[in-house]
Amino acid sequence: MRMRKKKNGQARLDACRNRLLSESSLPMENPAREVSAEADRVYLEIGAGKGGFACEMARREPSAAYFAMERVTDCVVLCAERAESGEYGELPNLKFINDTADNLLSLFALGTVDKIFLNFSDPWPKKGYAKRRLTHRRYLALYLNLLSDGGEIRFKTDNVGLFDFTLEEISSLGLTPEVVTRDLHASEYNAGNVMTEYERSFSEQGMKINMLTLKKPEGFSVELPYDFTEDGRRRYLNGRD
Ligand SMILES: C[S@@+](CC[C@H](N)C(=O)[O-])C[C@H]1O[C@@H](n2cnc3c(N)ncnc32)[C@H](O)[C@@H]1O
Repeated sequence: MRMRKKKNGQARLDACRNRLLSESSLPMENPAREVSAEADRVYLEIGAGKGGFACEMARREPSAAYFAMERVTDCVVLCAERAESGEYGELPNLKFINDTADNLLSLFALGTVDKIFLNFSDPWPKKGYAKRRLTHRRYLALYLNLLSDGGEIRFKTDNVGLFDFTLEEISSLGLTPEVVTRDLHASEYNAGNVMTEYERSFSEQGMKINMLTLKKPEGFSVELPYDFTEDGRRRYLNGRD
């Protein structure tokens, strides 16, 4: 998402500090408790953009602890201001994380997330950039490690190339999505769908929205993604050895 530099960005971010995840006890062993004593499940959105989806989801599901991650600080300012505006109510169950998906292992303990939302992730269409796609198998392996048994990934995109790529990546892990639709808005799965900013814009242009859900099977395990340091040690996606 291209974003013009926000005026007084730091001051505006500081004003919404309580909307941001505090760095006191990371990685979170019990993320729900970081948000409220009553929260009974943990939702994580990656690439929250302007935050409309996060605010509406947190409003609709007050007993879920909702974490919305966005790497662009100016977007996080917009997200946090939106959450604070009162338009969606108080939203005590919503926190934003100004960080990148590569650092997820430093933030959440394994098995602590119940649902992961990926909405209109950047498609990175050039083949050489495939590893940057948020549905590349190395990210999927990371998400599947973060999810609890029976946890779920929900992915929406207008981009057919990225959708096909994602189906192949899922299949490479030996998994099959529960739901696949190439036209979400005309499907039975549209009931209760919360539209994102990109989704609204693409569907107003007449584009179809693809959606899939992937459940982590009971007992499923996949190795965390890693590469190698110069001295041959494994380095996990977040730099943890
Ligand atoms: C195309 S926008 C979609 C925004 C929003 N989800 C929507 O549907 O309207 C993708 C967003 O993902 C964010 N993003 C991309 N890569 C990311 C990463 N590795 N970690 C966190 N956020 C990321 C971008 O900064 C951008 O705001």
